[in-house]
Amino acid sequence: MSKTIAVIPGDGIGPEIMTATLRVLDALDCGLAYDFVDAGMVALEKHGDLLPQVTLEKIAEHQVALKSPLTTPVGGGFTSINVTLRRHFDLYANVRPAISFPGTKARYENIDIITVRENTEGAYLSEGQTLSEDGETAQSIIRNTRKGSSRIVRYAFELAVKKGRKKVTAVHKANIMKTSSGLFLNVAREIAKEYPQIEFNEMIVDNTCMQLVMNPYQFDVIVTTNLFGDILSDLCAGLVGGLGLAPGANIGEKAAIFEAVHGSAPDIAGKGIANPCALLLAAADMLDHLGLVEQGTRVRQAIRDTMANDREHVTPDVGGTGSTQSFGEAIARRVKA
Ligand SMILES: NC(=O)c1ccc[n+]([C@@H]2O[C@H](COP(=O)([O-])OP(=O)(O)OC[C@H]3O[C@@H](n4cnc5c(N)ncnc54)[C@H](O)[C@@H]3O)[C@@H](O)[C@H]2O)c1
Repeated sequence: MSKTIAVIPGDGIGPEIMTATLRVLDALDCGLAYDFVDAGMVALEKHGDLLPQVTLEKIAEHQVALKSPLTTPVGGGFTSINVTLRRHFDLYANVRPAISFPGTKARYENIDIITVRENTEGAYLSEGQTLSEDGETAQSIIRNTRKGSSRIVRYAFELAVKKGRKKVTAVHKANIMKTSSGLFLNVAREIAKEYPQIEFNEMIVDNTCMQLVMNPYQFDVIVTTNLFGDILSDLCAGLVGGLGLAPGANIGEKAAIFEAVHGSAPDIAGKGIANPCALLLAAADMLDHLGLVEQGTRVRQAIRDTMANDREHVTPDVGGTGSTQSFGEAIARRVKA
């Protein structure tokens, strides 16, 4: 197979973790080619634009992008690049796996939960945000649609089938938010009937938070609306030791962008100690998406084996004494073996 992907090296630690990640992908020798494009501060300096048109065109052309974290300058009226990308490509599904890895400081072991979050509507529309003149009353719009709810719930069930998962939990607040969350829940109930082989249950969001902390093993795939998904996916990342090992995928009909959940970490940029695993796990999910499932599995296993056995090569954030480069090279050696 030969496939070209758009690669965005990003800002801060972005280029360092991207180099380590591409080293592992190269070691797989699976026919991937890279088209490097700019976004973020690098793009602002080079092209005068945080998200140049040519970058959008290349992502549209290749349909798949691997993206390092980007810095959105604070103030100055800059819109988040990540939000712009989601809107531009209608990347409606935000998929966030939370998987336990050996050697991490985490509350639980053997966690394997995927959160599927609606990424384009709900409470994050940024529409109708008003503050009254006296500053006393603020409001914003929450809008869920049948189309938006259907496609995200269907995506979650299809993912469950594809990955051999057993259960989908729809998380909502339909007892209070009777229209917006109610529509989502009704759609979830309807679509669940089309997948009798997958167990379906529904849970109110506040109870879900408690249940995740008390007994996370009852969850398999969670599907939910935008705001709840944002919060629950970080909670799940916390169960497995934080954002350092958290990948994310933003999926649409015409494009998919795979990224680490963490940011550009300016405090450690250039020091060679950033953990490349979140981006590497995102790359493993990208391989699955491209149909290279065996290679994706090999990457995850190589990370697991490296973290369990090569402590001298892993980065300090996960208790090692190695560097971004040594971590990447150790994983690359294992995927080749
Ligand atoms: N997807 C994205 O592009 C994305 C996501 C979040 C934040 N950001 C941007 O990143 C910048 C910095 O944000 P922040 O400081 O709030 O969050 P951050 O995730 O960059 O950093 C938070 C803390 O985690 C540490 N950290 C993050 N990634 C790490 C890694 N791979 N290895 C080891 N340690 C790691 C950092 O050193 C820092 O102490 C901001 O400009 C923000 O807008 C981008």
